[in-house]
Amino acid sequence: MPVTAVAPANIAFIKYWGLADRALGVPANQSLSMTLSRCVSRCTVDTIKGPDEVWWHEDGRARPADPVFAARVVEHLDRLRAFAEVDVSMRIITTNSFPTAAGIASSASGFAALTLAALTRVDAAVDPGRLSILARKSGSGSAARSVLGGYVLWPEDSEDPASAATTFLPREHWALSDVIAVVDSGPKATSSREGHFRASTSPHFGRRVELLGERLQRVRTALRERDFATLAEAVEEEMYEMQAIATTSRPPLRYWRPGTLRVLERIEALRASGVPVCATTDAGPNVHALCPDDAVTAVAAALSDDCETIIIDKVGAGPALSSEHLGMPTSPGTND
Ligand code: PMV
Repeated sequence: MPVTAVAPANIAFIKYWGLADRALGVPANQSLSMTLSRCVSRCTVDTIKGPDEVWWHEDGRARPADPVFAARVVEHLDRLRAFAEVDVSMRIITTNSFPTAAGIASSASGFAALTLAALTRVDAAVDPGRLSILARKSGSGSAARSVLGGYVLWPEDSEDPASAATTFLPREHWALSDVIAVVDSGPKATSSREGHFRASTSPHFGRRVELLGERLQRVRTALRERDFATLAEAVEEEMYEMQAIATTSRPPLRYWRPGTLRVLERIEALRASGVPVCATTDAGPNVHALCPDDAVTAVAAALSDDCETIIIDKVGAGPALSSEHLGMPTSPGTND
């Protein structure tokens, strides 16, 4: 029987940007994110005879996945098989509920869903900590946070960058929303993976790592106390700093587009008019407008003219198994 897992994307308030150890894929700093609920990846896994198959599901049908993506999936499957001590081929069918590779953490949700579905399919028992570490080893570090719901800190131990993510606060603690202004839904020119590699070439990177602990502390306190004004200030500082590191990397990386700046200006004006809202961006042009749930209508109305689409999301519960499997392709390998 196939196994399907659904895992959410997440949006970081304090970003993972840069690596402490490139080979091990461990981050240079602790990050803190909010797990989303509607932006999800769904991944169906079954065992098959013959070589692994990787399919991309879109518009109701599956087609062979892009070869670069498929190779990354198979590499991760090898890691999961070694962990579970099994030797079986698998068919992977995966899809996203939102634009792929546009700075909405599609690799985080995708690899979190794949890790959970594949391990469940081969009956490997894993706790959330082990799941987080295995998801991180996919190469998408932020996948380590997508295996948990609510507000998530990763790595949990500031002294051990290889440690798992942990729930900092449950989603029930504070009902925050994320109004995502999609200013450009196309794939980005440079992957976040490349951005992590280049981060340490910025002359400002070392100073960022030194100062980040204090900002993380402010975000933790603001979340605990549900203090939106303090959260907003720290989150925007962090957004600008991450982009500053990217733009001063060698060679430089610029993820923002003209539309990004238009939306950022709109959010500033909205906040000046009394609406509690702040902005953050990832390795892409789209803007995440964070606000308490009751400000969503005002925020979405203000941003809709300046972007292609608005996606309204909110803090979510984390991944789950599902009985709604993605349809099998018409001419797959034989089921085991
Ligand atoms: O998980 P990766 O390798 O795609 O990197 C994520 C990087 C950011 O989204 C920019 C920041 C973050 O912490 O999510």
